[in-house]
This record gives sequence, C-alpha cells and structure tokens, in this order.
Amino acid sequence: MLERLEEIAQEVESSLAQIDSLEQLEELRIRYLGKKGVLTQVLRGMGGLSPQERPLVGKAANEVKARIEGALTARASTLKELEKARRLQTERIDVTLPGTRQFLGTKHPLTIVREEIEDIFLGLGFMIVEGPEVETDYYNFEALNLPKDHPARDMQDTFFFGPEVLLRTHTSPVQVRTFEKTAPRVPLKIIAPGRVYRRDDDATHSPMFHQVEGFAVDERITFGDLKGTLTTFARQMFSPQTKMRFRPSYFPFTEPSAEVDISCVICGGGGCRVCSHTGWLEILGSGMIHPRVLEISGYDSEKVTGFAFGMGIERIAMLKYGIDDMRLFFDNDMRFLAQF
Ligand code: FA5
Ligand code: MG
Repeated sequence: MLERLEEIAQEVESSLAQIDSLEQLEELRIRYLGKKGVLTQVLRGMGGLSPQERPLVGKAANEVKARIEGALTARASTLKELEKARRLQTERIDVTLPGTRQFLGTKHPLTIVREEIEDIFLGLGFMIVEGPEVETDYYNFEALNLPKDHPARDMQDTFFFGPEVLLRTHTSPVQVRTFEKTAPRVPLKIIAPGRVYRRDDDATHSPMFHQVEGFAVDERITFGDLKGTLTTFARQMFSPQTKMRFRPSYFPFTEPSAEVDISCVICGGGGCRVCSHTGWLEILGSGMIHPRVLEISGYDSEKVTGFAFGMGIERIAMLKYGIDDMRLFFDNDMRFLAQF
C-alpha cells in the first residue's frame, strides 16, 4: 500500500508537466483528491490493514496528500504567471508606433474663392445679401426688362417648374428684390453670392454654378465707378499685372453693357481650350442699370443711377488656380479637393 501511495504521487507529478491550463489542473485535482478520487479510493482500502500498519499508512497517505496539494499549488502559480506573460505579450502596445492619421477637411476651392471675393467687396464698402434659388419668372426675367417674348431669354436656357416658377438663371433677381425693399433710399452697395442654374454642360459651363452679383445705386454713379470697382477687384483677386478688357455687350437690364475678360492664366494668353483659343476668359457681365429696372422697383431714374455686375465664381477659381475643367469642382475627388 505504501508503494501504491508513492506511485500515485509520482503519477501526479509527471502528469503536471503536461497540464497547461487551470481548468486541466482542476480536473487533475478532482481525479486524485476528489471524493471519488484515486487517493480516496486507496484510503478506503485501509480498513483491511492491521492495527500496526494502519498508523504508518495513514501517515504516509497524509504526506502524499500534502505532497500532491503542494505540487498542484506550485503548478497553479506557474500557470498564472504564464497566463500573465501571455496577456502582456498579446495586449502589448508599442507607444513608439506612429498614430493613425486624422484627416482634417479643407474648404472647397469655390468656398475659398467666394470668401475672397466677399472680403474684397466688404473692404470696398459693399454689404452681403442673399436671394432664393427658386425664383419666379417676374424676378428672374420680367422685372429685369425681359418680357415673355424677349429673344434674350434664350441666352439663359432655363430649368422651369411651371410657367411662373423656375431655378434662377443668374443672381440678378436679387437686384430687384433689394431695390423693392430699399427704394428710394440711396446709397446702396450690395453683393449677392449664390447658386444659379442653366441647361449648360461642358468644360467651361456647368448646369449649376455660382455667381456673385454686385450693384450700387446712388446719385451720379457713372460707368467710371463700375470700371474702377472692377479693376480694383481684379488687381486684388489676381495680381496688379492682371490684364483685363471691357468688351461691349448686351444685357436687357443694363445700358450700356460690357463683358469683362481676364487674360487666360492657363495658357498665358496663347490660346487653349479653356479660353476657346482666344487668350481671354470671360468672368463677368456688367453695365449701368437700365432705367426701367430702377423704375419698376421704385427708384426715380431721373435722380439716381447705378451699376451692376454678375461674375462667375467657377471661372475666377479656374483662373486663380489654373484649373482647366470646371467639372473638377463638382466631382468631389479627394485628390483634387485636398490640394486647396
Ligand atoms: C449674366 O448672368 C448676367 N446676369 C450678368 C450681369 C449682371 C450683367 C448684372 C449685367 C449686370 P452671363 O450669362 O454672361 O450674364 O453670366 C455671367 C458670368 O457667369 C459669365 O461671365 C461666366 O463667368 C459665368 N457663367 C455663365 N454661364 C456659366 C456656366 N454655365 N457655368 C459656369 N459659369 C457660367
Ligand atoms: Mg456672358
């Protein structure tokens, strides 16, 4: 029996080396020391021993039990150490690794240019107002001296919602909306930025684009004031060397009218697809506000005069950044947008 006890102790000791989890260790403990365990079974057999043998075997059994318990406890603490080391290994954080890069958004180039335009005109004493993108025929055309049968309506191919409601084709209706509120008060110096819509689509025309309307009404405003204002603007927006030309033109709501071109920065004036091989790019339409427009919205055209202009923000941004296709502004390609 003593030999059997020694065998059991050795069995447990050799099994322990293969145990690599606390669960397996607990199974081993139950197998040997549990109520129906190997050691318990052996001790049950003590009944058949002589009174001399019994204390010897009992003592040996207690020693073996203590030895097994000690070995199990030692293994348990080794396993706990191993587990801790494993977790340290897998949960380790290398604080010297570079962090995950956070991308900050940038302003859209059209926003940057719009804000620059606004800043220049604010510096010249203009105020900013806004008007609706869904307009009525009256404000978009009629009040701007463009009656229903007027051929100049074709200059701006229009998206209609019905016979009287449309998407504004330009920011000029803001002139009339403003005059109605302020007339007969002067002076008035306003810019009105916003989206406009036309049935156009190519490298220099987009179905949705942005304009900034500008207008001033006062006693004795002249074409010279218009020229001076726009020249100051172009020098600040581009450079003091910017070449600019006023080309006689026609708008029903201005008289006389002029379109303003900037020398093409893409080709340096040599001719390219952006400037339709002319060396110039039209950035705005302008003129002296037609007396009929002033009258219809409450001004006395005998007492006051005004100038007005409407510029395309996309065209200005193309010139400023050397972009040769307007559609790039609306594709939302991050590689393009992140450059600004
Ligand atoms: C007008 O829209 C007039 N309302 C401008 C005006 C205002 C004249 C006040 C007189 C007094 P026009 O259609 O030429 O004019 O457009 C003005 C500018 O908008 C153009 O010079 C150009 O820079 C820009 N533009 C016109 N069509 C498009 C388009 N489809 N896509 C992008 N920009 C455009
Ligand atoms: Mg034009």
